[in-house]
Amino acid sequence: MSSSTQSGKAKLAGRVGIVGTGHRARLYTHSIAARPQLELVALCDTNSDRMEHHNGLLKEHGRSEARKYAAEDFNKMLEDEKLDILVVTTIDYTHDLYIVPAIKKGIKVLTEKPMTTDVEKCKEILSAVEENNGSVQVLFNYRYNPVHWKVAEVIAEGKIGNVKSVHFEWLLDTVHGADYFRRWHRYKDRSGGLMVHKSSHHFDLVNFWIQSKPASVFGMGALSFYGTDQGKKSGWARDYDRARGSKEAEDDPFAIHLEDDAGLKALYHDAEHVDNYHRDMNVFANDITIEDDMSVLVHYESGVNMTYHLTAYSPWEGYRVMFNGDQGRLEVEVVESTHRVAGKKGGGAEGVVHGEKALKNEGHNKITLQKLWGEKEDVPFVWATGGHGGGDEAMLDQIFGPIPGSEEHKSPINRLSADQTDGALAMAVGLAANESFKTGKLVQIKELLGRQL
Ligand SMILES: NC(=O)c1ccc[n+]([C@@H]2O[C@H](COP(=O)([O-])OP(=O)(O)OC[C@H]3O[C@@H](n4cnc5c(N)ncnc54)[C@H](O)[C@@H]3O)[C@@H](O)[C@H]2O)c1
Repeated sequence: MSSSTQSGKAKLAGRVGIVGTGHRARLYTHSIAARPQLELVALCDTNSDRMEHHNGLLKEHGRSEARKYAAEDFNKMLEDEKLDILVVTTIDYTHDLYIVPAIKKGIKVLTEKPMTTDVEKCKEILSAVEENNGSVQVLFNYRYNPVHWKVAEVIAEGKIGNVKSVHFEWLLDTVHGADYFRRWHRYKDRSGGLMVHKSSHHFDLVNFWIQSKPASVFGMGALSFYGTDQGKKSGWARDYDRARGSKEAEDDPFAIHLEDDAGLKALYHDAEHVDNYHRDMNVFANDITIEDDMSVLVHYESGVNMTYHLTAYSPWEGYRVMFNGDQGRLEVEVVESTHRVAGKKGGGAEGVVHGEKALKNEGHNKITLQKLWGEKEDVPFVWATGGHGGGDEAMLDQIFGPIPGSEEHKSPINRLSADQTDGALAMAVGLAANESFKTGKLVQIKELLGRQL
């Protein structure tokens, strides 16, 4: 693999392929196209229209079009294109199908989170990396958000001493939270449920913050709000299958109207004739197999215990996390959006897709440190307003180097990049929680994965 040196650090360079040319992949298409040391030469997807959309983005940057490969021709793509880097942005349960052959070919793999969705696939990826001396980076952009690395820094500096326990609550609002119930995420076998799909970000942060590994997990989860029965009880349910073409959906605040956003229209509305991918299904349907309200207890190898909660139907969006140490306490509060205003068809779709940019009605963000026997003090940090709290831009700059002519989004601490072991440990907590939801028992991570990580 080739690399170039910018800001004194080796950055990735060379021939790139992207598999999975949906919404998230746009971030990578844009960022590769903007960096001359990278060339996006190949796209692979089950939907040719979505690949074409990405070629349109390349043209906007004045770059050459990439060759398009159907999903079943992925191995031919690896054979023909001599890639240096593969970016995996397909839907979660298919990541392994592409990560494993690329590792076997010696290609550097950058995969979106979660690394995969079940234990067998996870083991297969870990074995492929070990046997081929491969390299996988799991794209945990949250690590690069300045709030998050500041927390890591404060803990590493010993400001609260040895961490003893963590209390963590994450709230998804009725716009973003609902989005996981409109399409493939709502099926556990495709996304691993929110414990794997969404919370792997949060569990990765905790592993990173306290520098320990999860050992055992107990959890309870339920579909308490979305779904037909719950929606009928609360009075929110409307009777339609999907928003497109439905009168009932026009003023349903839980609906998404793909025509209202040029990007969503091109990627999904106009492309669904190819594969019947309906991105606008009713969140109060009766085929949802994931939870929307989850409580989890995690014990770490270092002795730390964590209580964690995820809710996907909150009026505001953000999170609170508290660390108790033997020298003091650290508290973080981030209000990404104080409230949402109910929308309807024709009202635009800004802020509907998670993490694209800062949300409307942004609230306060603070980190507070309180030493034992001392008063509370605010911990200063730089607040960034880009995608995922600035995490996306900082991550891309660290992997690929800054866009020529732009200032680098710097992350002052090292060890931000996550490898396959980090990817496995992050998803292991979610997999164990899912197992505990089913069995009502405490799950040992080592037994679940069949190995020590
Ligand atoms: N890090 C983050 O903050 C973040 C944010 C959003 C999405 N993601 C991740 O990015 C990935 C993509 O999410 P998205 O929202 O863009 O989804 P999406 O549905 O918009 O795109 C997925 C693409 O994969 C394609 N696809 C489906 N099955 C395939 C197969 N078997 N082979 C090849 N292609 C296939 C689809 O046609 C689609 O184009 C997911 O893994 C998701 O978890 C990460």
